[in-house]
Amino acid sequence: MDTSNMKLIQITDLHLATPGSLLHGLDPLDRLDRCLGDVVDRHPDADICVISGDLTDRGEPAAYQALKSRLQGFPCPVVLMLGNHDDRQNFRTAFPDHPVDGNGFVQTATSTDWGDVLCLDTLASGRREGDLCSDRLDWFRKKLENAGDRRILVFMHHPPFDIGIPRLDVIRLDQPEEFASIVSRLGQNIRHLFFGHVHRPVFGSWNRVPHSALPAINHQVPYDPVTPVMAYSNEPPAYAVVLADGETIVIHQEFFLHRDALPTAG
Ligand SMILES: [Fe+2]
Repeated sequence: MDTSNMKLIQITDLHLATPGSLLHGLDPLDRLDRCLGDVVDRHPDADICVISGDLTDRGEPAAYQALKSRLQGFPCPVVLMLGNHDDRQNFRTAFPDHPVDGNGFVQTATSTDWGDVLCLDTLASGRREGDLCSDRLDWFRKKLENAGDRRILVFMHHPPFDIGIPRLDVIRLDQPEEFASIVSRLGQNIRHLFFGHVHRPVFGSWNRVPHSALPAINHQVPYDPVTPVMAYSNEPPAYAVVLADGETIVIHQEFFLHRDALPTAG
C-alpha cells in the first residue's frame, strides 16, 4: 500500500515593489508578511513551498532583496518561479544559489517522498504573454521521459489555455501546442497542473489533467467574460495548501486575512 504523502504550500503573484510603496492602493510586502506568518503558524509541517511567479511587479533589485530577507529562516524549502512581471537577471543576481536549468532558465525539479515537483519558467522578457522555447520544452520533455513510475506535479506561471476572461486569455502561454503535445504523449505521471498569473481561484481540467490557480497576494482580477481592458479588485488574497496522500490530492485555499469567527448561534 502506498502511504507516501506531502504537504505543499502554493503562494502566487506577490508583485512586490520597492519596500514602503503601495501598488493599486495596497502594500504587497505587508500582504506577504501576513501570508508567510500565517503559513508558519498554521502549517509548520509543510514539506515544500512554491511561489509561482510575479515575485515582483517591476523586477526591481530592491523588491527581490525584500523577498530574500522575508524567506530567511522559513521552515521548509521554498522554490521560486518567474512570471511576466519578473526580471530573470535581477532575480538570479539576488538569488545566486537558486537552481536553474542548463540554459539559465529558472526551471527546477524537486524530488519528495511522494513524487517530483516540476516548475517551469514561462517568462518571455519584455512581453506579458508566456513562452516555452524549444530549450525549455526539451528540459520538460526529458523530465517526463525519465520519470519512471514517479508521480509529478507541474507548476507554470502562465496557463496554457483560455480561462474565459478575455483580458487574461490574450496574455496566456503563447503557442501552447507543443507543450500540449508533450503532455498528451508523455504526461501520464502528471497528477495536477498549478498555475498563477490569473489572480483568482480557477479549477478544472485540461487534456485530462486537473488544474488549479489561486488568488494573488496583493490585487485580484474579477471574473468578467466581456471587458477586454485589465481591471483589478480587492477580493481576498489566499494561499493554497496541497495535501497529497498516495493517489489522493486535496487542495485547500487559505484566505488568511479573513479569519474572523462568526457567532455559533443566533
Ligand atoms: Fe501577476
